[in-house]
Amino acid sequence: MPETHIIDGKAIAAELTDDIARQTTAFTHENGAPPCLAVILVGDDAASAVYVRNKGRTAAKVGFRSIQETLPADVADERLTDLVKALDADDSVHGILVQLPLPAHIDEAKLLELISPEKDVDGFHPVNVGRLASGQTDGALTPCTPAGSVMLAKSYLGNDLSGIDAIVVGRSNIVGKPAAQLLLAENCTVTIAHSRTTDLKSKVLAADLVVAAVGRPEMIRGDWIKPGACVIDVGINRVGAPDLGAGKTRLVGDVAFAEAIGVAGAITPVPGGVGPMTIAMLMANTLKAAKAITTKSN
Ligand code: GUN
Repeated sequence: MPETHIIDGKAIAAELTDDIARQTTAFTHENGAPPCLAVILVGDDAASAVYVRNKGRTAAKVGFRSIQETLPADVADERLTDLVKALDADDSVHGILVQLPLPAHIDEAKLLELISPEKDVDGFHPVNVGRLASGQTDGALTPCTPAGSVMLAKSYLGNDLSGIDAIVVGRSNIVGKPAAQLLLAENCTVTIAHSRTTDLKSKVLAADLVVAAVGRPEMIRGDWIKPGACVIDVGINRVGAPDLGAGKTRLVGDVAFAEAIGVAGAITPVPGGVGPMTIAMLMANTLKAAKAITTKSN
């Protein structure tokens, strides 16, 4: 059975955050204040709370000022809107992130449009979405998980992804669509598959690069993977693990990892693959936003 390379997202993310920490020291010295990231959490979704805590922790670790605003699930639309507007108007805040998903009564698209594109460290504002779609990836803030996924793919495939047959399984605004745009910008031939795609297995089997972002535990099986393909597993699914004891759970990806070993050329583990990269890219976007905003105002 051929060896499958396990892509160490944790180590690659740590290298990135070390570099960001060094740049942050210089930024803070030059500007008299550190980059500042504000994260808004609405409601008490357990997974979102963990993600937000990790974002705040890493922000503090690289030397940013970190603000976390936690609001109840039944928050009035106006209170949330006022908070975003106040953070956006605050010159000392460089990055604003609203953790998704939001409670159903909040108009997500309307809220995200209140964040200035230059403070939109998630890359979800229509202006940043449009920049990515029209190939302006240099100045724009690009979504963190897709950007981290492409970086992990490059760590195995090399920097030139031209001509590679890639499939993105999932078409969410957060991952699937921007991942497809980024891969297109890298000159890949991109297939976007989703819940209505017919004969998904044969389409995945044709790809040299698979980005799995469907949110269904271990949906992509080992015999769906082309031998030697690079597999980036974006899924983070908590499932029951009775083998560990009554009531225990574990995290699994969208790919059946154990089956993919020995078939894939390389694969990201869950946890320890894409997850840490998402946070590292958020730090990179915040530093980028801080630099752009302070350069403009000087
Ligand atoms: N929920 C899941 N992933 C993300 C992300 O990258 N950004 C935000 N804001 N919410 C998310």
